Amino acid sequence: MASTTALNSGCNVGGAVVNRNPLFLRPPSSTLVKQSRRRSPKLRFTVRASETHADGPTKKLGLSDAECEAAVVAGTVPEAPPIPSKPAAPSGSPMVPSLPLSRRPRRNRKSPALRAAFQETTLSPANFVYPLFIHEGEDDTPIGAMPGCYRLGWRHGLLEEVSKARDVGVNSIVLFPKVPDALKSPTGDEAYNENGLVPRAIRLLKDKYPDLVIYTDVALDPYSSDGHDGIVREDGVIMNDETVHQLCKQAIAQAGAGADVVSPSDMMDGRVGAIRAALDSEGFQHVSIMSYTAKYASSFYGPFRDALDSNPRFGDKKTYQMNPANYREALIETSEDEAEGADILLVKPGLPYLDIIRLLRDNSSLPIAAYQVSGEYSMIKAGGVLKMIDEERVMLESLMCLRRAGADIILTYFALQAARCLCDEKR
Ligand code: PBG
Repeated sequence: MASTTALNSGCNVGGAVVNRNPLFLRPPSSTLVKQSRRRSPKLRFTVRASETHADGPTKKLGLSDAECEAAVVAGTVPEAPPIPSKPAAPSGSPMVPSLPLSRRPRRNRKSPALRAAFQETTLSPANFVYPLFIHEGEDDTPIGAMPGCYRLGWRHGLLEEVSKARDVGVNSIVLFPKVPDALKSPTGDEAYNENGLVPRAIRLLKDKYPDLVIYTDVALDPYSSDGHDGIVREDGVIMNDETVHQLCKQAIAQAGAGADVVSPSDMMDGRVGAIRAALDSEGFQHVSIMSYTAKYASSFYGPFRDALDSNPRFGDKKTYQMNPANYREALIETSEDEAEGADILLVKPGLPYLDIIRLLRDNSSLPIAAYQVSGEYSMIKAGGVLKMIDEERVMLESLMCLRRAGADIILTYFALQAARCLCDEKR
């Protein structure tokens, strides 16, 4: 095609390409080609790339639409940049016929704008729930196994952390208390002390930030001298119904202090229905329940248990938390929690359990939460500190993947750090 060569012969003047061949813009009509030969040079007006791009829009010549159209019909076509030349391949590239593909998915990934247009999942600070550890102390104590996390003093550090989170759009938190050993007992009664650490912190937070969304953890482990989520019988059995009785009292104490969402993480059977009934009977119809629907007996909780000093004093949690090998069983928990009135279903841990998140997403219309747990957090942090991975990118990617799998909200210790990154990206 001789014309192609001619059309590509625009030259570069002062960084701007000036088209020496205005003809190619015209449709391939022989009438027009004939007319173009008759054009009068003095009527020519050209659009220069340098004018359009560098110095703003081309100067107007005061022509009407009809005059512009007439000029084009008469063959006086304004110049536009030439057809771009084909970029050269490195020498040595194999010469191959193009593959006969009807679909080349790479077309839709060609540029940042196309990629942004076709992005299926988004990540926003509004999706995050920020788990915060609190204690009775005045100072914030670093948690060794979770770099960047602290046991926050409930009267000072907690308020400051919440304020920082709100500044970047994270307005939801979940509280985990470090309870003094002297207040722990086999029946975990401190869990429903209306003036305990959690209810006190909730009242303080609500007083300062009335619109803050406060989630609470409902389980006995921080209050249990055995370090279990339920009451332990003499023979080591975790008693279900008796534990549920305590959890209902705990949920009421939290709701009474102003909690928005109570979150049973204990995995006792029937606790969602019992807590719903207990809340309703006390006038807390407006308080939601986020159920830890599929909570697995995972080794990824290690750093969290160090943070709260809540390791089980004996045995493990396998008689109540789910077997990591099980998939279908999550559906049994899902239908129970739905029937019992859960408002949100949670999967925990997060990244190793993406299939479970997707399973719940596809089998329930309720919002789904994912918990990126302490072990997931600490692994990314450690990899980042050791410069083995790019901490920030891995953090954002892992959160995006949880969303892609079907999570509406994500409980993550990265909430503040990730929200700051997302806000910076916008700027
Ligand atoms: C206890 C509870 C645990 C976590 C949240 N609530 C620990 C456990 O079940 O032993 C773990 C959170 C994390 O690892 O980040 N009910």
